[in-house]
Order: sequence, then structure tokens, then C-alpha cells
Amino acid sequence: MNYFLADAAATDALGQQFARTQPASAIVHLHGDLGAGKSTLARAWLRALGVSGAIRSPTYTLVEHYPLADGGKALHLDLYRIAGAGELEFLALDDAAATLWLVEWPERAEGALPAADLRIDLAVEGAGRSARLAAGSAVGVTWLERVSKTGACDALLTSEGRKSSQTPDM
Ligand SMILES: Nc1ncnc2c1ncn2[C@@H]1O[C@H](COP(=O)(O)OP(=O)(O)OP(=O)(O)O)[C@@H](O)[C@H]1O
Ligand SMILES: [Mg+2]
Repeated sequence: MNYFLADAAATDALGQQFARTQPASAIVHLHGDLGAGKSTLARAWLRALGVSGAIRSPTYTLVEHYPLADGGKALHLDLYRIAGAGELEFLALDDAAATLWLVEWPERAEGALPAADLRIDLAVEGAGRSARLAAGSAVGVTWLERVSKTGACDALLTSEGRKSSQTPDM
């Protein structure tokens, strides 16, 4: 599925839609260059799950932990500055308790992260952004079907995205 996000509000809308449709437990890899909108999407997503305090970009801390309104726990990671995949161990990530992983720059810790249920690729496109979604697991496939069934973000789909939303590609 391919979306065109004309402004940051559209990125927020997509993040909220993922929050509404996500499975009980989800691992999400957010790909895209510096400034592509990964943190914007993550922030809107966490807000929609009831996080009310400050949502800082984990640029230097590498990880931020958030208790969620439903009793779950979210991890927001930004691995841009990680020295290597081995450094993940030192972050003491509570994998078992985490119900949502939002990982920026997952390629920096290739192989050391849990596999994605959903991969989101963001890119600058003119004054806006493009977002491409790909399921990485059976849970992810069902999730994308749910996203397209709600229709809430259909106005943001590109014509190419409309076609591919009928047959999730992974
Ligand atoms: N769809 C959009 N159209 C235009 N601007 C956007 C859009 N989505 C987000 N932005 C803006 O892009 C800027 C950078 O966004 P953000 O910090 O989320 O990027 P990032 O991918 O997390 O970057 P980094 O890799 O540095 O962490 C912000 O000013 C944000 O408001
Ligand atoms: Mg960021």
C-alpha cells in the first residue's frame, strides 16, 4: 500500500490509523532518511494509544519506554547513533513485556532486532512524504487488510497504492 502524505497532519492521521488497527502485539520497523517523518508518525501513534506526557525523539537515549492506556508497554527506538547491533543488549529492552515496538533506523541493528510485522518506508516527496507499507508476517498481512477495510486513510492512498491494497504484497 502506498500513501502520499501532503503535510505533517497526514502523517499524524496515518499514525493514528495504525494505532487504531494494530494487533495486541506489534513490531514495526520505520525506514526512511533523516527527516522523512518517522518520529512524527511514531509520536501520533503513541498519542493515540493514550501517551499524554512528552514524547521525545530517542535520538541520544536510543530508546524511550511508554506505559500504554490498555496496560501494554511501548518501546520507541532510534538506532541511528548505535555503535553496532551488539549495543542493543545494553539497552535492557524488556522484549517480553513490550506490546509495541516502533523502531527508527532498524537497519543499524540488522539481525539483533525482532522481525517486523509491519515495515513502513517513508521518503520525502516534493513538499510532502510518501509512505509504503509492507507486511512482514501473517499478523502484518491481516493488519494491512484491516487498515484497508476501515477506509479511514483511503484519501491518502496513491493510485498505485489503491491497486496494491487489494493484494497485500508480502
Ligand atoms: N507528510 C509530511 N509532509 C511534510 N512534512 C512532514 C510530513 N511528515 C513529517 N513532516 C516534517 O518533517 C520533519 C522531520 O520529521 P521527523 O523528525 O519525524 O523525521 P525522522 O524521519 O524521524 O528523522 P530522523 O531520522 O532524523 O529521526 C518534521 O518537521 C515534520 O513535521
Ligand atoms: Mg526521528
